[in-house]
Formats: sequence, C-alpha cells, structure tokens
Amino acid sequence: MLHDPPARRIDYLRVSVTDRCNLRCRYCMPAAGVPEVSHHDVLRFEEIAAFVAVAAGEGIGTVRLTGGEPLARLGCPELVRQLRAVDGVREVTLTTNGTLLPRYAPALREAGLARVNIGLPSLDPATYRHLTRGGALEDALAGLAAAFAHGFSPVKVNVVLLRGVNDDPAPFVALSEQLPVEVRFIEYMPIGPVAPHRYFVPADTVVARLQAFGPWEEVDPLPGAGPAGRAFRRPGAPGRIACITPVSDHFCHWCNRLRLTADGRLRLCLLAPQEIDLKPALRPQPDPEALRMLLGRAMREKPWRMADTTVELGRRMSQIGG
Ligand code: 5AD
Ligand code: SF4
Repeated sequence: MLHDPPARRIDYLRVSVTDRCNLRCRYCMPAAGVPEVSHHDVLRFEEIAAFVAVAAGEGIGTVRLTGGEPLARLGCPELVRQLRAVDGVREVTLTTNGTLLPRYAPALREAGLARVNIGLPSLDPATYRHLTRGGALEDALAGLAAAFAHGFSPVKVNVVLLRGVNDDPAPFVALSEQLPVEVRFIEYMPIGPVAPHRYFVPADTVVARLQAFGPWEEVDPLPGAGPAGRAFRRPGAPGRIACITPVSDHFCHWCNRLRLTADGRLRLCLLAPQEIDLKPALRPQPDPEALRMLLGRAMREKPWRMADTTVELGRRMSQIGG
C-alpha cells in the first residue's frame, strides 16, 4: 500500500483526459476559455494506462476520469476498457457535465464504467444557461436520465454553489424526492474565476435552509464519498443530499487522492501548485520503474495543507478536473 508519511492512504486517482470542454461554467472557466494543451502534449490512452498500472500496483484502486469534459475526447469507452483491464483497478468512474452522456452511456457501461457524477449546477433552464454560458438544461437532464437508464449507481449530481445564483436548495430537494440521486452541494473553491467575496456561500448556509423542508435523517456517506462529509435524506425519499466543504472545513488530513493532468503532470493537491511531470518517464516508451519512482516522490511531497493564496495555483479547474 502507498503511504505518505505518516499515514494518509492514497488509493484514488483522478485522471483528466482532456482540458477541453463543451461548456464554460462560470465557477470553472473564464469567459475567454483557457489556452488548450496541444494534441502532442495530451497523454495517449496507452500512456495513461501505463501509469495507472504502476499506480494500481501501489494501491490505487479507484480511477476517476475527469476533464474539462472527458466525453469531449473521443474514445473514452476504450480508455475505460483499458483501465478496467489493469490488475488492481477495482473501479473506474466518471465526472461529466452529462450533456454527451446520452450518446456514450451504453458504450461506457459496456466498457465497465461503474458510476457517474454529473455537474448540474441548476435545475432552472435560464440559470443553467447563465451558469454554463450557453448550455441547455435539457441536454444535462437527458444525460441524467441516460445514467439511470444504463444502470450506473449511485448517480451523483454536483452543484457548485454561487451565492444568489443557485444557492436555493428547493429544486434539488425535490429532485432527491423523485430520483435515487445523491445531490452534492459543493463549496466554490477560489481556483475558479469568479470573485469569492461576492459569490462564496458556505455549505452550512444551505444546510440551514434545508431545515425549512421538514425533518431529515442523517445517512452514512456513500461508498467512494471520500471527504464528502455528511449526507441527509428526507424520510422515505429515494435520493439524498450531501455537502462537500473544501473551503469551510479543510479535509486535507483525509485526502486520499492524486490527480493526473491531461498533459501528464501529477498534481499533488488541487489547491497547491506542486506538480510532477511524468512525461520523461512516459516518452518515448513508458518506463514502469521510473514511473514508480515519480509516484513515490509524489507521495512524499504531497502537501498537508492547501496553499494560502490562490495567486500561484498555476492552473484553472478545467485543467485539473476538480
Ligand atoms: N469550485 C468547486 N468545484 C468546482 N468544479 C469546477 N469548478 C469548481 C470550483 N471553482 C467542480 C464541478 C465539476 C468538477 C469537475 O469540478 O462540480 O463537476
Ligand atoms: Fe466544463 Fe465541467 Fe468546467 Fe463546466 S465545470 S466548464 S462542464 S469542465
């Protein structure tokens, strides 16, 4: 098992398969977008799989594909298949904005994808369009329906909260009463481009608002919840509501993850700039021993706390994948 001193168990890898996206969410990307990684610099599936094979040998059992929008890259089901075939990989999962899921859900399922998280920041068409700078709510809802239709479970819905924009929980409470979703209210992290002093809202505020809907039962966090904190359910409801509080309640001490960027860098912490370039160990041919050394270094150098300032984070959310 991989340990970084003294003992945080790193068993989870997020792989950004592309930094490109078909949406432009305000909490993630600036209006002008972000300079894109060139095709040459993007890791090939074989290179990703070679690193995952080394990581799995060291105790990484869950791999989550992220972006940008991962499904904006052609062939994701093939990547899922390759990763599922790696010894030691127990689960491959996906974080997506859902809009391309109707097209790819069947192939993803067949390839062995276990479950999906869908970024769905509002259930109101105008607010959704505003927040995503042009996205159509119906496309994302079709993705949600496709996730259920193809048997992914659990299905989680990610809601990055912006004060005064989408911080009314009522529509999501209703969703949790209709479908077996887990709605996750996520605190806006200042790596995004909107001004936190204006838009940050603590998850607590939203939890307090939930009280108005009557009684809640606290339920155990779902498997794979990682640092997701607490979850609640309306009595008898199929779905649930959870809060993720990276800002108001740092969970660095339980952090179990590493991130691989589309251009082949291991990102040690979402909110700290340190990265380790894997390319020298991947090209021209993947070198497992060299990759293992770099992974060991990542373990040792993984920070214990987030950066104090966001000035030097070096990347946008869409270049890391959440
Ligand atoms: N703060 C918190 N979460 C964010 N995401 C994107 N930008 C931010 C931000 N600034 C989340 C979205 C998406 C995931 C990949 O990252 O929920 O689903
Ligand atoms: Fe794209 Fe996801 Fe960022 Fe929205 S949050 S712009 S869907 S990568």
